[in-house]
Amino acid sequence: MSEKIVYQDPQCPIEERIQDLLSRMTLEEKVGQMCQMNGREEPEKWLREQHVGSFLHMLGEETNELQKLAEQSQLGIPIIFGIDAIHGHAFWPTATVFPTQLALSCSWNPELIEGIGRITAKEAALTGVHWTFSPVLGIARDLRWGRIGETFGEDPYLIGVLGSAIVRGYQGEDLSAPYTILACAKHYAGYSETQGGRDSSEADLSERKMRSLFLRPFHEVVKAGCATLMAGYQAIDGVPCSANRWLLWDVLREEWGFEGFVVSDWKNVEHMCEDQKTCPTLEDATLRTIEAGNDMSMNTPGFTETAIKLVESGQLDVTYIEEAVRNVLRLKFELGLFDENRYADSEKGKEIIGCAEHRQVALESAYQSIVLLKNQDDLLPLSAGDGSLKRIAVIGPNADDVKAQLGDWVSWSGQLGEVEFERDPASIISVLTGIRNRVGDAGRVDYCRGCDVVDPSTEQIGEAAELARESDVAIVVVGDNLLLTGECHDRASLDLTGGQQQLLEAVHATGTPMVVVLINSKPLSIPWVTEHASAIVEAWNPGMEGGTAVAGILFGDRNPSGKLTISFPYHVGQQPVYYNQVPGWHTDCYVDMPKEPLFSFGYGLSYTSFAYSNLRLSVEELAEGETLWVEVDAENTGKRKGTEVVQLYVNDVYSSVTTPVKELKGFRRVELKPGEKKTVPLEVPYECLALVNRELETVVEPGEFEVMVGGSSRDQDLLKDKFKVIV
Ligand code: NOJ
Repeated sequence: MSEKIVYQDPQCPIEERIQDLLSRMTLEEKVGQMCQMNGREEPEKWLREQHVGSFLHMLGEETNELQKLAEQSQLGIPIIFGIDAIHGHAFWPTATVFPTQLALSCSWNPELIEGIGRITAKEAALTGVHWTFSPVLGIARDLRWGRIGETFGEDPYLIGVLGSAIVRGYQGEDLSAPYTILACAKHYAGYSETQGGRDSSEADLSERKMRSLFLRPFHEVVKAGCATLMAGYQAIDGVPCSANRWLLWDVLREEWGFEGFVVSDWKNVEHMCEDQKTCPTLEDATLRTIEAGNDMSMNTPGFTETAIKLVESGQLDVTYIEEAVRNVLRLKFELGLFDENRYADSEKGKEIIGCAEHRQVALESAYQSIVLLKNQDDLLPLSAGDGSLKRIAVIGPNADDVKAQLGDWVSWSGQLGEVEFERDPASIISVLTGIRNRVGDAGRVDYCRGCDVVDPSTEQIGEAAELARESDVAIVVVGDNLLLTGECHDRASLDLTGGQQQLLEAVHATGTPMVVVLINSKPLSIPWVTEHASAIVEAWNPGMEGGTAVAGILFGDRNPSGKLTISFPYHVGQQPVYYNQVPGWHTDCYVDMPKEPLFSFGYGLSYTSFAYSNLRLSVEELAEGETLWVEVDAENTGKRKGTEVVQLYVNDVYSSVTTPVKELKGFRRVELKPGEKKTVPLEVPYECLALVNRELETVVEPGEFEVMVGGSSRDQDLLKDKFKVIV
């Protein structure tokens, strides 16, 4: 009778399967599992010669071919394919593209975001991908940074809630179920806290700041079961993240009990020698990252040979390698890759990927992401069909630019290096198309691009102004594009670029009411627009159905409900201008501009109005382990049905260390009919009042706390009351 091969037997417990497999692996095969290479560059060679266990940026049939080779190899260890499916599986040409993370966060809707994670997982899995490098959990504070649009905004609590939701969506309840993929929370940790907005610069963070803010969203997703984490590019207090044992081991594994694996960001190991200059040789860098607990290295070509040499020369204890390989194999087993889920299914893919049902969710998410920033004299919603709007001018460089509309991490945004996965632009509804579809025969829609987002030439501005003059309303669509956003695309200025400011001024000078629609990855400094436009609609990068959603909002098919999750500055010099600052003094404003943001966290208008009253707290004194129940009455005082995001903030009035003037601790979306009043319940569990003290302990300090509830983080929008924490 032949010997039973434990690792191939789905009936055996996973730890036994891992142990059996490990016992059969050579050192080369083990180290190969710790390596991920770029699938766009000779993957067969990497697989054959170095037993590489993971590839990124491969899709569809090409994953199947490589997977077959892996299956036929001596041990048949499946490859795990990863990709940046970060707002949908957008590198796949027919997949559903959703609004970007920052846009989605403005929905304040975890259920919606979980659903998007589910769809993304399904579409990715059908193309042979098992792992998405998402979500980004950076706290977005310096808007010059190119990757602001990849974040869920500036609040650690909200990031934790929305991040956990998308992780649940990607991973489902059982990793071995079909169409389930691994999430990867990145970039662990503090990567967004750049110097001057410059990507991958050192993050100047104390351990107290890390624990009070930057680690919090990661802890939340780890609690939600997030299977993998990606170590950031940058160093914190001199130590590159991939070599930071405190971060990767002490906090992550010992304190939080994380059992998944950590992948480095792109070439982190190499960067330690070549850029960060913390290691003179690749050997030194490889040793430091493995000993720190970095389980997989992304795209450092010399990694495998170097790691093997380190073990053979006795410099590296092989148990470090085995520990990392166990972590990687465990997830391969849990995903069911050894048993059945490893291949792409093109036939099913044709039926499911980008199907009408998924596009409907893309549309719904675009609707919920849009934030109405200004609506003077209720200019919006526009009416098409009653004869009052005969001519509509659609103007601006982003009105019909589907690349600017989708933003980063799509087929054409460059990361895959080639265009073989090019998407059909016609599959995306631009703002112009959306407006044309919506208006139909009820009015005349004329279009003039007017200027470019980058090129400053102003030749077409006269024509655009002429069109605006002849029209009843001018919808001007401006913002940024792929040249101004993303990795390695940090900005020193946040002003409108190219000819956009001149275009807006020329249109405004015609006297025709001007609606500005922003298609942009992140907040820009737009004080002039705020003063002069009649209405401003922030649509962000709203995904493939974005044009339909923008038109639906402009013409009142939907009432906007998005609220900002990130503050807008008046000027780049105010950076950072996030709402949850700690109090200082002497600086109520700059000598040349206000201290406050132009638009604050939590802000967003509706076509109806809401009033808050009757804030009630369940107790005056709260003891350990108890929950404070908060109720407020929210009323729709306008004439349309609307959804309000009720927000709850807390301030620790006196604390042993400085704490923010207010911090979001809860929220709830409430739908209200005209005239309807609802009691909105919110809860504040005792633990969420904790701070990190000077001794780095997480504690709730007794004393007074202020509770603030309302429709934005601005003081004028909040009802306030107090309670005490007692010992
Ligand atoms: C580098 C980026 O920083 C990271 O976010 C991404 O997941 C990897 N490249 C892979 O594309």
